[in-house]
Amino acid sequence: MSPLKGRRIRTCALLFFAVTFTMLLLTYTFRDPSLYFFKHAFHRPDNVFSKGPCACHRCTSDPEGDPWFTERFNQSMYPLMTRENGILSNDTLQWWQLLQPDEHPANYSQVVEKLFQVVPNDVHYADASPGRCRTCSVVGNSGNLKGSQCGPLIDASDFVFRMNEAFTEGYEEDVGTRTTHHFLYPESAKDLDDNTSLVFIPFKVLDLQWIISALTTGTVTKTFFPVKSKIKANKDKVLIYSPTFLKYVHDSWMEGHGQYPSTGFLSLLFAIHICDKVNVFGFGADQYGNWHHYWDFNAGIPNSIHDRDYEYNVTLLLAEKHKIKLYKGRL
Ligand SMILES: *[C@@H]1O[C@H](CO)[C@@H](O)[C@H](O)[C@H]1NC(C)=O
Ligand SMILES: *[C@@H]1O[C@H](CO)[C@@H](O)[C@H](O)[C@H]1NC(C)=O
Ligand SMILES: *[C@@H]1O[C@H](CO)[C@@H](O)[C@H](O)[C@H]1NC(C)=O
Ligand SMILES: *[C@@H]1O[C@H](CO)[C@@H](O)[C@H](O)[C@H]1NC(C)=O
Ligand SMILES: *[C@@H]1O[C@H](CO)[C@@H](O)[C@H](O)[C@H]1NC(C)=O
Repeated sequence: MSPLKGRRIRTCALLFFAVTFTMLLLTYTFRDPSLYFFKHAFHRPDNVFSKGPCACHRCTSDPEGDPWFTERFNQSMYPLMTRENGILSNDTLQWWQLLQPDEHPANYSQVVEKLFQVVPNDVHYADASPGRCRTCSVVGNSGNLKGSQCGPLIDASDFVFRMNEAFTEGYEEDVGTRTTHHFLYPESAKDLDDNTSLVFIPFKVLDLQWIISALTTGTVTKTFFPVKSKIKANKDKVLIYSPTFLKYVHDSWMEGHGQYPSTGFLSLLFAIHICDKVNVFGFGADQYGNWHHYWDFNAGIPNSIHDRDYEYNVTLLLAEKHKIKLYKGRL
């Protein structure tokens, strides 16, 4: 056999194997969902198999043929307010202004204009790409965190979201130590450290006036009841939750249940929109069915203006469909 012929045979054999292997892989990957791994193992920007929206093993925003998720999830909805999207549609403005009625609200557009003289008007996190794998821990305040030992797992994510009165001192083993984003509103405000982004959720025009004041002059001291006049937070890292997004969460995800969604549910949907992988901790009741905070076992939390049960049902469904991973207590 001439050396030339031998090389040709080897080349042919190699080609044959490559083609067969590729075809097998393609066939099985798209026919059998249990081979999901194959499809996702190749999610690299430089890979011909890259089809997914992110570089994680699973991507939150991947519709994956789930109609329940696809019906509700709108990727174009941006969760943060900017000067531009701060101009609300009539529908949204009307709905939003009725959440926490205020007899003499100030002029909304003038307040928003003033707001962006105090806080930055930047667009963040709109960098989804097949090369990104952003992991997030959403940490609610449920008593089911007590004794969970989830701290290190919570801290291991790129972003760690906490909310309202949450603190970590004394509970580090169970809740972790890092906080990249803290969600709050005037009546639940607390001081934050310099590295944490304050994600402010406004429910009325007065709330927007409060955040302006709390970061500057401290003249607004009362909403429904006395509130902190000043807040310690890094002004350059303040983000404002968009009222349009809030209405989208209420309409699409809560299907109108409850008066408006809770801080926990709003943080969760925020995460689903800006993260590629979402781990959820401290949501729902503890193992005895009690709703309370991990730091306070006496205070029951009333199921008031939020439809807590409906919110939790949606959370469970998101977990069932592998959009989030829900940790319910001890690891
Ligand atoms: C998704 O959101 C965009 C931007 O707000 C909107 O224009 C569009 O109509 C929405 N799509 C659906 C299906 O609701
Ligand atoms: C919104 O409301 C204003 C005044 O209330 C009205 O002038 C304007 O036409 C409305 N716009 C739309 C699109 O309905
Ligand atoms: C609010 O102020 C803007 C301009 O600053 C003005 O165009 C608008 O008419 C005002 N809206 C109301 C309801 O007074
Ligand atoms: C803020 O982040 C820097 C850099 O990661 C770190 O050195 C510093 O200790 C952090 N400060 C606080 C208050 O966590
Ligand atoms: C939550 O789901 C359970 C079980 O599917 C159902 O019985 C219950 O009515 C749901 N609750 C709400 C508020 O939708």
